[in-house]
Amino acid sequence: MSDIETKEDVTFLVDTFYEAIKSSPIQYFFADVAKVDWEAHLPRMYSFWESIIFGKSTFTGNPMLTHMALDNLSPIKKDDFDLWLSLWNKTIDANFKGHRAEETKSRAQNIAQLMQFKIEQKNASK
Ligand code: HEM
Repeated sequence: MSDIETKEDVTFLVDTFYEAIKSSPIQYFFADVAKVDWEAHLPRMYSFWESIIFGKSTFTGNPMLTHMALDNLSPIKKDDFDLWLSLWNKTIDANFKGHRAEETKSRAQNIAQLMQFKIEQKNASK
């Protein structure tokens, strides 16, 4: 097994992860709450993760605001974040091995923590 090396690796990782999401208990956020257009969402996610993994700043978006707005439509609980992270980690571990693979798991964990914090702050000030 090798590390996450190329753009194609990131595309594969993101595609495989969202296939797992689509058959998980949190799929309703995508299918019913946000009614995600996958053809638009997936390329944004390739660019988001390429920016993080390879330090290329191609992603323009504000994931914190996106998820705070999503939480207003349907609350995202700690268990949901735990499941998201466990699917992400499992997808990485099943396909990649190396320092980028490890870094990609820990970056997701940190971003998820910050998202949960921002959501809690928003809900506390309501
Ligand atoms: C249970 C946890 C999560 C759920 C239910 C969730 C759900 C979603 C949904 C439904 C969208 C599409 C929003 C839209 O197009 O209107 C989205 C976008 C996105 N998500 Fe998540 N997400 C979760 C956690 C995360 C985490 C932990 C990360 C990063 C590590 C992340 C990164 C992103 C990014 C980058 C976008 C695109 C934002 C944009 O287009 O500006 N998500 N998420």
